[in-house]
Amino acid sequence: MKIAALVGSKREDSYNHRIALFMQERYRDQLDIDIKDIASLPHFDQDDEENPPEVVQQFKKEIREADGILIVTPEYNHSVPGMLKNALDWCSRVDKVMTGKPVLIAGASPGFLGTVRCQVHLRQILAAPGMAAKVLPGNEVFIGAVHQKMDDEGSITDTGTVEFLDMVVGNYVNFAELERKKEELAGNGNR
Ligand SMILES: Cc1cc2nc3c(=O)[nH]c(=O)nc-3n(C[C@H](O)[C@H](O)[C@H](O)COP(=O)(O)O)c2cc1C
Repeated sequence: MKIAALVGSKREDSYNHRIALFMQERYRDQLDIDIKDIASLPHFDQDDEENPPEVVQQFKKEIREADGILIVTPEYNHSVPGMLKNALDWCSRVDKVMTGKPVLIAGASPGFLGTVRCQVHLRQILAAPGMAAKVLPGNEVFIGAVHQKMDDEGSITDTGTVEFLDMVVGNYVNFAELERKKEELAGNGNR
């Protein structure tokens, strides 16, 4: 299953980016995860939405062609980082490339709550008419105190967290497969 991953942090030592890499490696037999470069997307401009810059066109093409989306993001000021919101805004206009995509959300922070507030907003955003993504219900991956749960090589060392991720990814694969079949039955197979 081809998965486009969006990471909400461009920080060099980002925990969230490391988690995306960890998932890419650990679940490579189930998911073919490709981490997209959303940091190089220009700010969304409604004047350009019909004919966006090449980098945006390429990004939207890759999202359209993906079987599913993985979002791994920190929380900024109790919400979604602007860089991630910007990428989603591009996706939401003209050709609405997130529509019907099965989405798995995860987030990590050194704080206790592990991006709870961000993810509440993110689920709301992904339900907007221009998005209409199919977010895996439940299965909320909040990795708090992440600095105590990873080693310097970027592996998650906390067994409970890894076991939970294994379960969530299994649920996601089943969910995405079911959604794909439903889309096919509805005649939207090549959306
Ligand atoms: C602008 C900004 C706002 C932040 N706001 C929050 C917040 O609301 N909640 C939280 O748990 N952490 C917050 N943090 C701390 C981040 O969780 C922390 O920097 C984290 O390591 C960022 O993720 P990353 O390691 O993937 O870059 C904020 C950090 C920045 C730079």
